[in-house]
Amino acid sequence: MEICTTISEVRQALKGVEHPPVGAVLTMGALHDGHLALVRRAREECSTVVASIYVNPTQFGDQTDLAAYPSGIQEDLRVLREEGVDLVFMPTDSEMYPPGFDTWVEPGKVAEQLEGVHRPGHFRGVCTVVLKLFNTLRPDRSYFGQKDAQQIMVIRHMVEDLALSVDIIAVPTVRERDGLALSSRNTHLSYAERQAAPVLYRALCLARELSLRGQRDADTVREAMRECLVGEALASIDYVSVADAETLEELTGIDRPALASLAVTIGETRLIDNVLLA
Ligand code: PAJ
Repeated sequence: MEICTTISEVRQALKGVEHPPVGAVLTMGALHDGHLALVRRAREECSTVVASIYVNPTQFGDQTDLAAYPSGIQEDLRVLREEGVDLVFMPTDSEMYPPGFDTWVEPGKVAEQLEGVHRPGHFRGVCTVVLKLFNTLRPDRSYFGQKDAQQIMVIRHMVEDLALSVDIIAVPTVRERDGLALSSRNTHLSYAERQAAPVLYRALCLARELSLRGQRDADTVREAMRECLVGEALASIDYVSVADAETLEELTGIDRPALASLAVTIGETRLIDNVLLA
């Protein structure tokens, strides 16, 4: 497995690659089985698999959140090697944002909903770094987790609008047995908080169940999710949403594909999750 820290090293290393497709998995490290599901899918489908590990400062509004972001680079490299990844790109901040860096990708409406409201500028940072990573790694396909459904939508929009030649592939959310979506942030949870955290998935399952049983009123579904979350003392709600699965605009009636999503802070840790409603 080749490890590159500069863009020019990556370009040099990938010169020899003759057999497309190249599959990319972009990460911020602290790898878990959710990340590995993307790597495995890429390994199944692509002759060359490249991964990136880079904690992108420009997508963090809160600098304490950035400082607390978990890392374990040696362990990350070990698992990527074990999964048969061909190349890992782990740039420094000065490689990605050298002095004078002054060009940004400004995503539109879909980035302004949900996470966009609560984390202004987040998707601008994500899009800018993802475009730079795409330009460096030049993948034919790039794999993203459904766990961050809005991120996939924003990136698909960027790919379409800017005519990037990469296929964006969505991989289902990997969960713990009790339903908690795997996340690097889960390591911040205390024992009691960890016991409380599956309430996110319970609220989402409730939404799915109501919708499957024919409930078409989005307010009723959002209210049921809120009630479920309020029942957990350690949880405080950032948002609860039932939105159009294409635009992420809040729905009144569930009369088209919808995404139920939520952001909940458990103790100090902010968790997000979502499910699609048929
Ligand atoms: P990170 O949070 O490290 O996630 C990297 C990829 O793993 C994302 O596509 C994310 O959706 C996916 N992922 C995380 N948890 C998952 C789970 N439980 N099941 C399935 N997939 C999961 O997302 C980012 O990094 C960054 O924003 C990045 C795209 C790398 C840009 O900086």
